[in-house]
Amino acid sequence: MRIALVTGITGQDGSYLAEFLLAKGYTVHGLVRRSSTFNTDRIDHLYRDPHDPQARAFLHYGDLTDGTGLRHVLERVRPDEVYNLGAQSHVMVSFVQAEYTADVVATGTLRLLEALRDHMKVTGRQVRLYQAGSSEMFGASPPPQNEQTPFHPRSPYGASKVAAHLYAVNYREAYGMFVVNGILFNHESPRRGETFVSRKITRAAGRIKLGLQEKLYLGNLDARRDWGFAGDYVEAMWLSLQQAEPGDYVVATGESRSVRDFLDEAFGYLDLDWREHVFVDPRYIRPAEVDHLQGDAGRAREKLGWQAKVGFRELVRMMVDHDLDLARQEKTLRDAGHEIFLRGVGSGHG
Ligand code: NAP
Ligand code: GDD
Repeated sequence: MRIALVTGITGQDGSYLAEFLLAKGYTVHGLVRRSSTFNTDRIDHLYRDPHDPQARAFLHYGDLTDGTGLRHVLERVRPDEVYNLGAQSHVMVSFVQAEYTADVVATGTLRLLEALRDHMKVTGRQVRLYQAGSSEMFGASPPPQNEQTPFHPRSPYGASKVAAHLYAVNYREAYGMFVVNGILFNHESPRRGETFVSRKITRAAGRIKLGLQEKLYLGNLDARRDWGFAGDYVEAMWLSLQQAEPGDYVVATGESRSVRDFLDEAFGYLDLDWREHVFVDPRYIRPAEVDHLQGDAGRAREKLGWQAKVGFRELVRMMVDHDLDLARQEKTLRDAGHEIFLRGVGSGHG
C-alpha cells in the first residue's frame, strides 16, 4: 500500500487529490494548520476516526513556515510520494502580505526540499515530490505558454512560485531527487475559495437569482484565463509522479476566456444580465496584472496521456448549480427567520 503526504490537503486541490489517491488505494496523510475554528470542511467526508482499523486518511499539524515540524511529519509518515500544495495562494493578497507569501510559497518549498533530502539520506528511502507550480510564473509572457516560455511573474506570489520552481530544479540536478514541477493553469470547482473570481461570480449569481444580493463588485473584467476543472488536474499531478523520470509539465485546457466571458456564461445560465448587477471597484484592481494566460499542454498530453475532460461551459454550470443550491439553503434559513451573513459580499481583498 503506497503512502502519500499532502501539504495543503484542506485546500481545493488537496481535497480532490486526497479523494483521488484514496480511490487508488493509497494511505493519505495531510498537513493541517492549527486554527481556532475548524478548517477541514473540504475533507471532512474523507476523514474517519483514526482508531477505526479501516482509516486510511490521517491529519498532522504542520506549517510550511516550520521546518522542524515538517521533518517530524516526514519521520512519522515515511511517505512514498509528497505533494506540496500548501500555499498562500491568492495573488491579490500576496501584494498585501508579500513577505509572508514568500516565506510560505518560496522558502516553505525550500524547507520541504531540505527536510526531504535529509530524510532520504538518513533512511535510504526514495521519495518522490510534486511541486505545485503556477501559470502565474509566466505572468507577462505572451500566450500560448508552455514549458519553454520564459517566466515573467507579476506579483509576489508569482515570483515566489518561480523561486520554488527553481529550488525544485536545483535539488533535482544537485542531489538527483525525483522532483516534478507541475505548471498548472487556473482550475476551479464548487470547492474553489470564495475570493477567487470564478467562485465569487457563481456565488453571487446564485444569491442574486434568489434575491439575497443585488450587486457584485469586481476588478479587471478584461483579464483572460485558461480555466479548467480541479478534479481533472489532480490526476495530472499523480500521473507526473508515476513516470520513469522527473520533469516539468504545463497542465491546461488550451482555451482562454475573459472574466466577462465567465460572467456571460454564469449569469446567462440563470437568465440574468450581469450588466445590471456588476460594478467595478478599484480595490480589486491589482498593482500589476497578468493579462492573458492560455496554456499549451502538449507535453502533458504526449508524456502523461493527460488531457482536460471538463470544458468551460460545463465547469461554469457545475459551479452555478452548486452555488444556486447553497443560495437556496441560505434563503430557507432567512425565510425561517434566521439572521444570515452573506460572507464575502463586498468585503476584503477578493
Ligand atoms: P487553496 O484552496 O488556497 O489551498 C491552499 C492550501 O494551503 C490550504 O490547505 C491552506 O490551508 C494551505 N496553507 C496555506 N498556508 C499554509 C502554510 N503556511 N503551511 C501549510 N499549508 C498552508 O489553493 P488550491 O487552489 O487548492 O491550490 C493548491 C496549490 O496549487 C497551491 O500551491 C496553489 O498556489 C497552486 N496552484 C493553484 C492553481 C489553481 O488555479 N487553483 C493553479 C496553479 C497553482 P488552510 O485551509 O488552513 O488555509
Ligand atoms: N480574485 C478576484 N476578485 N479576481 C478578479 C476580480 C475580483 O473581484 N475581478 C477581476 N478579477 C481578475 C483578476 O484580476 C485576475 O486577472 C482574474 O480575475 C483571475 O483572478 P483569480 O480568480 O483571483 O485567480 P488568479 O489567476 O489571480 O490566480 C489563481 O490562478 C493561479 C494560476 O494561474 C490562483 O489560484 C493562483 O493560486 C494560481 O496560481
